[in-house]
Amino acid sequence: MTAGSHNTALSLVHASDEVDGVVVLTLSHPPANTLSNALVSELTAKLVTLATGPNAPAVVLTGAGERFFCAGGDMKEAVDFDANVMVERMAGFHALLCALENYPRPLVCAVNGWCVGGRIEMALFTDVVYAAVGARFVFPEIKHGMLPAVKGISRVRSVAGDRAARRLLLGGEPVDAATAEAIGIVDQVVERNELLATAVADARSAAAKSPAVFAALKRALHSDTTGRPDEEQLRVTLADARTVFNDPAAFRSALAQFPSGVTIVTTRSETGTLHGFTASSFAALSLEPPLILVCLDRGADRFPVFMAAKHFVVNIVTDAHADLALKFATKGENKFADGNFELDEAGNPLLPDAAAVISCELEQAVPGGDHVILIGRVRDARTGAGKPVTWYRGGFLPLGERAA
Ligand SMILES: Cc1cc2nc3c(=O)[nH]c(=O)nc-3n(C[C@H](O)[C@H](O)[C@H](O)COP(=O)(O)O)c2cc1C
Repeated sequence: MTAGSHNTALSLVHASDEVDGVVVLTLSHPPANTLSNALVSELTAKLVTLATGPNAPAVVLTGAGERFFCAGGDMKEAVDFDANVMVERMAGFHALLCALENYPRPLVCAVNGWCVGGRIEMALFTDVVYAAVGARFVFPEIKHGMLPAVKGISRVRSVAGDRAARRLLLGGEPVDAATAEAIGIVDQVVERNELLATAVADARSAAAKSPAVFAALKRALHSDTTGRPDEEQLRVTLADARTVFNDPAAFRSALAQFPSGVTIVTTRSETGTLHGFTASSFAALSLEPPLILVCLDRGADRFPVFMAAKHFVVNIVTDAHADLALKFATKGENKFADGNFELDEAGNPLLPDAAAVISCELEQAVPGGDHVILIGRVRDARTGAGKPVTWYRGGFLPLGERAA
């Protein structure tokens, strides 16, 4: 019997829908979320599946219920302490720690109650650990004749230091969240009612960072090349540099071969402030129903406003708007200061002399890597007299005579 051979019809790890590049995985094994073989193998499989998808999300790991984040190994399964059962069980757990360690995207842990044994080891293979004020941490294995995984033991030692690791592992006594923070196994203690929101917000902001750089940093942090020969460290650096720099450059250069139109996409926030950004990713999506799309960078300052917006307007710009389009592509500018815009019936800004103005309701926001695809249901479309300008190889290019 292997950890993976347990067949349970009931899912023990609930995966939320992906929102803003973040998936919440909730251990759900009442009453104490024990790490049964089935739960370990299901969690491992979920992480591996998420990691190998085209756009792996950031993951927040938490436990269902109030009292237990996770009560460690399932003692019912270890009742006979049969060596073969224990060996396979520990092999399954080791595989889970490897899946956590190798997860390329942000992993944030939200500890909502007792965090016991193997569950601490798991938390230590995530990137950030938040704990609720009442959380407790304990390695009880020494009191039950059980063994933590060696991979977990060395991780506890490298994170908390030798003295604290000895106290935790050899003493078997619980420590509270503040002590766990002081010895470094928790990054921050927060109020219970703020725990999940804090963890999700952190994961969301980490998810907006460059996936290639994030993955390279995690690889380097986990492989710890300290003391290895210089040539080996250089080889790893160069391999990472190729992944991070070369491929995106080739990709960008290929994309620059595609001439596109230029739009300024605008909206109005709930508090009445006006927002906009220059976008060349506009495209028609559907005639019936009338849908368009535009891709918005998750790193843009306007991102939260557009995600919360009910309406937005796509203004297709002309040669005369080149400077304005550059202004709307620059961070921090007071973009509406020159008064080029009028307000439509819904109060959204539109450019009266644009080549075309398309007013939309936000129908859907679909995650796509470091961008989100805003799908708009067209409510109004007007054509202006101006000739649209194109964007090609990083510059504006007026359309030729044939487009007149
Ligand atoms: C020609 C051109 C096209 C652009 N297309 C897009 C786009 O499709 N989506 C996007 O999110 N940003 C695009 N940008 C970049 C944004 O305009 C820029 O990042 C924006 O000003 C961010 O502003 P903010 O961070 O102040 O919100 C484009 C920039 C230029 C110059």
